Amino acid sequence: MKPEPADLVIEGGTVVTESWAGPATIVVRDGRVLSLLSPNVSTSSLGAARTIDATGRLVLPGAVDPHCHIAVPLGEFVTLDDFQTASLAALAGGTTTIVDFAIPTPDEHPMEALEAKLEMGRSSRCDYALHGCVAGTPSDIPGIVRDFVAAGVRTVKLFTTYRDLLMVGTETIEAVMTALAVASGLTYVHAEDNSLVEAAQDEAVRTGHIDAAGMAGTRPAAAEERAVAEVLAAAERTGAPVYFVHQSTPDVVDQVVRARQRGVRAFSESCPHYLILDDSVYAGDRPERYVCCPPIRDRVTVDGLVSRLVDGFLHTVGSDHCCYDSSQKALRAADVRAMPNGLPGVETRWPVVWDAFVASERMSAQRFVEVMATNPARLNGLFPRKGTIAPGSDADLVILDPSESRPVRVQDLHMQTDYTPYEGRDVTGWPSTVIARGRLVLDEGKLIDPGPVGEFLPAEPLTFD
Ligand code: URP
Ligand code: ZN
Ligand code: ZN
Repeated sequence: MKPEPADLVIEGGTVVTESWAGPATIVVRDGRVLSLLSPNVSTSSLGAARTIDATGRLVLPGAVDPHCHIAVPLGEFVTLDDFQTASLAALAGGTTTIVDFAIPTPDEHPMEALEAKLEMGRSSRCDYALHGCVAGTPSDIPGIVRDFVAAGVRTVKLFTTYRDLLMVGTETIEAVMTALAVASGLTYVHAEDNSLVEAAQDEAVRTGHIDAAGMAGTRPAAAEERAVAEVLAAAERTGAPVYFVHQSTPDVVDQVVRARQRGVRAFSESCPHYLILDDSVYAGDRPERYVCCPPIRDRVTVDGLVSRLVDGFLHTVGSDHCCYDSSQKALRAADVRAMPNGLPGVETRWPVVWDAFVASERMSAQRFVEVMATNPARLNGLFPRKGTIAPGSDADLVILDPSESRPVRVQDLHMQTDYTPYEGRDVTGWPSTVIARGRLVLDEGKLIDPGPVGEFLPAEPLTFD
């Protein structure tokens, strides 16, 4: 019997995954990788509908962004994108899977927030998964976690800060950790000690530095260090795994490293802005554009954090994408306590990280794949469907020419905002072609809207090495 023809063949490129790199031909059928062939094998008998010549270029797994906030209402502000626009921006930037947070408003039940996000996700152009979120002091945490898991969600976000909006105490943290551990899930934590943050904010008010230019002083590294220590202690008491979002200092990464040496299953995420920018942004023009929690740190701290990335101690790099525009950021810039926090970044995560660390030869392309795709897929129960290139995995592929550079310009981007923190930066590592579940969605730099074809990805039980 004649074999079914392939849909797509990518030949001539160097394939890079977390575990190997080398020349290979990728054969795609029905949205999945059918096989990886030696470059010497002729593909003419495959009858492929389309062949892409990747000669001189790299072919990598589509990235998985573990930390996106889409259309999130937080306080007075709502981020400006929705699943349609955020997912298109993600695809343009080499990210083929996004993981968003179902963050409840103060009067909303966590499952209502999740159901609303599942509904919104129907307009997604790329595949997506969701983190649940527990805020305040809800009753029946085991029941909430059971409902999350039944809905395909095994990761739950908790905040130790943002009083009256999202903050939870130790009892809730332990209850969520315990319930999730039983379900082979993972607790995601934004760890900043709120009493230290509020004390620093009070001091900033007293000294007249509560505006955006004073941001770095309003949320000290000590607040992150204390909260990480307390959450790690909770993980140790419950025996549950824990994932820290947006870590901004080498000291907190080192706490996680030491906890792992004691047997705690703990994981560290950081974000491009903590690894590339430094606190000089708060002394420059329009500092409010860089207001995020935790704040961007000083150069010595940034250099220390970068060494943790390149030396293998950070597990993931997430965008913490928050798509506010410059007028939203400016509105409350006189008082950071009332400001919309966070930076746009789902589209720029890939190119700026590649440029800063791979093009500069500080990090290998394989390590890039690990922190941008494989580990985020693993830590969301999506591996090996996502995060790698292997027979049976989804055909989520990025082709890039490592010799090609161009500047970041907001008018070339697709995020629903009028600024980027990286404006004017000359960047090497832009994806030139992106394939999402076998569909060509970025064709030599031209974005092709595939329509609302993104699928919700239920998380599989997580396993930890
Ligand atoms: O400043 C930030 N990171 N804003 C988004 C919400 C959060 O804390 O992740
Ligand atoms: Zn956060
Ligand atoms: Zn966030």
